[in-house]
Amino acid sequence: MATTVASHDPQVKYIGKPGEVSFARGLEGVIVAESTKSYVDGNAGRLIYHGIPIEVLAERSTFEETAFLLLYDKLPTEDELEIYQMRLRQYREIPDEVYQFISCAGRRYNFHAMAVLRTAISMLATFDDLAEEDTMVAYEREAIKLISRMATVVAAIGRARKGLPPVHPRPDLSHAANFLYMLFGEELDPLLARVMDVILILHADHECNASTFTVRAITSTLSDLYSAVVGGIAALKGPLHGGANEEVMRMLYEIGDVEHAEAWVRRALARKRKIPGFGHRVYKTYDPRAHILRRYALQLTQRAGKEKWLKIAEVIERVMIEHLGQRGIQPNVDFYSGIVMDSMGIESSLFTPIFAMGRIAGWVAHALEQRRDNRIYRPRFFYVGPEHLEYVPIEERG
Ligand code: ACO
Repeated sequence: MATTVASHDPQVKYIGKPGEVSFARGLEGVIVAESTKSYVDGNAGRLIYHGIPIEVLAERSTFEETAFLLLYDKLPTEDELEIYQMRLRQYREIPDEVYQFISCAGRRYNFHAMAVLRTAISMLATFDDLAEEDTMVAYEREAIKLISRMATVVAAIGRARKGLPPVHPRPDLSHAANFLYMLFGEELDPLLARVMDVILILHADHECNASTFTVRAITSTLSDLYSAVVGGIAALKGPLHGGANEEVMRMLYEIGDVEHAEAWVRRALARKRKIPGFGHRVYKTYDPRAHILRRYALQLTQRAGKEKWLKIAEVIERVMIEHLGQRGIQPNVDFYSGIVMDSMGIESSLFTPIFAMGRIAGWVAHALEQRRDNRIYRPRFFYVGPEHLEYVPIEERG
């Protein structure tokens, strides 16, 4: 919410006159750019990508097609999709040096998967002769490369965490199926490939979230696309943003048993602890992505014999809605995504990197949009420090 600022402190220097300046903590409600990519109606619990509801895309589309929609603002024709998929597939492989770095990092058992992802993507730029080419054609090519290679890097990180060598990509599989193949070293049940596809679709874009804002701010300086994406990964890593999915699973492990769940949440709320996977700056109702993922959580936990996690989650949801539902604090995308991925046999440290694998589509689409009509992001701070302070030599400071 924007706050109008007034102060009687003569020391305070205002940007404008007292009472005339307003600012919004956390940029709440601030519009920073026009965009054709996605829109969140926080009161209705509605999310659209370029006009198409997320439910329709989750039901009928693929990640490849959804990424095309975000990049080009249209659904592809059959020919366009075929060419675009060929381009995505041709870029899947990454340099040996990047695999080696990931394996090396993997030998250290306590590395953060997002830190390795951030570094590996940055490293890819230094092996890409074309990374600094500054044309829109080059920018679009790098966008497709990044969407494609992010999956290879994330799968290699997943294997390195288990001390396993990387599995090289296959050109004949879809983006989601190839990712699971690289992660597990074998082709999985098509149902699991479809669920991964849906997870990627649901995470592909979400208008002006913190990481997309970061990507656009970096892009606005005319920096290269890799730099912008590395910034996006850094922002997504935080537990208030993409890192929450991993925190949800940690919470479920900590609770351990459905019998303890209600008391655990009540205690946590009494201690003013924030419950991961709940609340959102824009949604004041149930996040539509959480609805979809909850259905998959039901199906996959049964299939994997892991119903316990869903049962604990349902108790947490009930207690949270009883206590905070009226204030608009409801499950967000991160609440059920972890349970779904855990039931697929994916370890929790990989949840946020997989979020990045989906969000890369939105990041690069926004970066291109920013470049097409660019103006550098240069907001102001509301300066509340003294206006005049005498410089005291160090030997005279008390
Ligand atoms: N559990 C308990 N209380 C909560 C929660 C929560 N998850 N979320 C918000 N609240 C409470 C706050 O304590 C605060 O209460 P107060 O007014 O009594 O102090 C009030 O609701 C407003 O919360 P803010 O943190 O100010 O809301 P903001 O819009 O700044 O933050 C955020 C949104 C970061 C998502 C917040 O709800 C949160 O921390 N949630 C938990 C982390 C999480 O799930 N993040 C993922 C978000 S979705 C995504 O990025 C993919």
